[in-house]
Amino acid sequence: MKTPEEITVCKVEHEDAAWKARFLAFFSGCDIKKVGRKAHTYFAAYSGEEIVGHSVVYFENGRWVMDGLRVNPEFREMGLAKRLTEARLRHTIEQGAKEIWYACEDGNLVTICCHLRYGFEKVCPHNHHCNAATMHWYRLKVTPALFKKFPVLKP
Ligand SMILES: CC(C)(COP(=O)(O)OP(=O)(O)OC[C@H]1O[C@@H](n2cnc3c(N)ncnc32)[C@H](O)[C@@H]1OP(=O)(O)O)[C@@H](O)C(=O)NCCC(=O)NCCS
Repeated sequence: MKTPEEITVCKVEHEDAAWKARFLAFFSGCDIKKVGRKAHTYFAAYSGEEIVGHSVVYFENGRWVMDGLRVNPEFREMGLAKRLTEARLRHTIEQGAKEIWYACEDGNLVTICCHLRYGFEKVCPHNHHCNAATMHWYRLKVTPALFKKFPVLKP
């Protein structure tokens, strides 16, 4: 197995047939939503040619939303979710985002751990009625304090 340093995290530049086949294999058995025609960018972690982590950020209804974060079980607790999250945050900030959102169920504690460290706060958006049975929305405001704490996110 590769060490974390040997795993590459990068933007998916071409959503071609080869990538699509690997994407579908990686998420087989997962209830993963397709982003459809929304403006979006996928990020992947590669061990050689194999996808071992994947995630997306998309723009919808005036909001940048991070979604679809998954790391292959054999490659967990190596910092890959963190690297995928930082790559998406940096990319989104480069696009001019002032706020970044994601939604998550209360039980998904590890995912919450992966995001809250950056300062995401639980916020119920105007058109949503958050309750115990729904996903909860979290918002990160892009501020100078964010860059001070996480210089790696600065464009
Ligand atoms: C959540 C998930 C993406 C984390 O991936 P990961 O690469 O292991 O996470 P990282 O190693 O980057 O860890 C990031 C932070 O998450 C937290 N964390 C990760 N694994 C944890 C664990 N087993 N227990 C407690 N905290 C954990 C820690 O706070 C960690 O930061 P730290 O190491 O600085 O303390 C991964 O567990 C996963 O893919 N889970 C399934 C997600 C899923 O079902 N997605 C839906 C699509 S099918």
